[in-house]
Amino acid sequence: MGSSTHRITICTSCKNKGTQCQPGYELIAKLRAAIDAAGDSIAEDFAISGVACMAGCDHPCTVAYHGTQKATYLFGDIEPDEDVDDLVEFAKQYAVLGDGWCSSVDRPGKLRKHTLARVPAMLLATEDSKVRVA
Ligand code: FES
Repeated sequence: MGSSTHRITICTSCKNKGTQCQPGYELIAKLRAAIDAAGDSIAEDFAISGVACMAGCDHPCTVAYHGTQKATYLFGDIEPDEDVDDLVEFAKQYAVLGDGWCSSVDRPGKLRKHTLARVPAMLLATEDSKVRVA
């Protein structure tokens, strides 16, 4: 996945509410399989990895989408058994959004109402005060 321009990061420390179960690894495996099954349109373009915590601990599992020069999203309350199709659908949308920006009504299914953060692409100010997206 060295040529991937997008990344999906899944929290591996989130615990299902009221249990010690940490479903992040299961979600990574299911999402990898679903992305691969979706074909070349996104399989080559997305790397999927885990991280210990993304500070959304009250909303397990958390899942982030990042891309070069694109807005970053953090979604919460994602269930490995229920939400993989929505995650794949959003990957397809995100891959073709120039700056990664979309409104909640454009996101698939559960992701409409379970967005914890949407962070614009980083802006760099140059010496001549022109601002460019990095
Ligand atoms: S433990 Fe998953 S976001 Fe903190």
